[in-house]
Amino acid sequence: MNLHLGRSTFGNSKNLGNVISQEEALNLLREWVKNDKLILHMKQVGLLMKAWARTKGYSEEDQHRWYLAGLLHDADWEKYPDQHCKVIIEELENREIDSEIIHAIASHGPKYFGVQPETEMDKMLYAFDELSGLIHAYSLMRPTAYEGMEIKGVRKRLKDKSFAAQVSREDIADACERANIELNVLIEFIIQHQPDSIN
Ligand SMILES: [Fe+2]
Ligand SMILES: [Fe+2]
Repeated sequence: MNLHLGRSTFGNSKNLGNVISQEEALNLLREWVKNDKLILHMKQVGLLMKAWARTKGYSEEDQHRWYLAGLLHDADWEKYPDQHCKVIIEELENREIDSEIIHAIASHGPKYFGVQPETEMDKMLYAFDELSGLIHAYSLMRPTAYEGMEIKGVRKRLKDKSFAAQVSREDIADACERANIELNVLIEFIIQHQPDSIN
């Protein structure tokens, strides 16, 4: 399966700042995605992105843009697995959405989509994506979920290749390097900001 997007520019920079509301984005997800686990994954990544932008002191508008990139990044994965993430990109281009949001989505798997993460938003989406899933899987096997979770417990699960085997350890290491973030810092941020129950 070749998911390469075959292009490197997305959207139109004249649309910078054009967004949809949280409700519109959630409606799109409900329409396209039936798998609750996948919706939860996107909500978690969306909230991590927003929390990162907030921690950096970015404006409310920017926090929302970061949130949308996370919330929508896998929107077409269930319906169009062999055209992931081409379909959601085209949908957002048709809706004339902010080109930076679209670029972040297009670069969330450089190995698969052939698009390099360039901006901080791109790099953080790539960094949160896989690690968020592994930490969520770990929370499900702990009686207290995220409470009391330690970095070393997550590191142990990362080393155990049979745990959440679909999570690419290679991508996590590559993403940390590109974002210039230590793995432990990223793990700690996710433990603190990834809520275990999101409605
Ligand atoms: Fe994806
Ligand atoms: Fe994802």
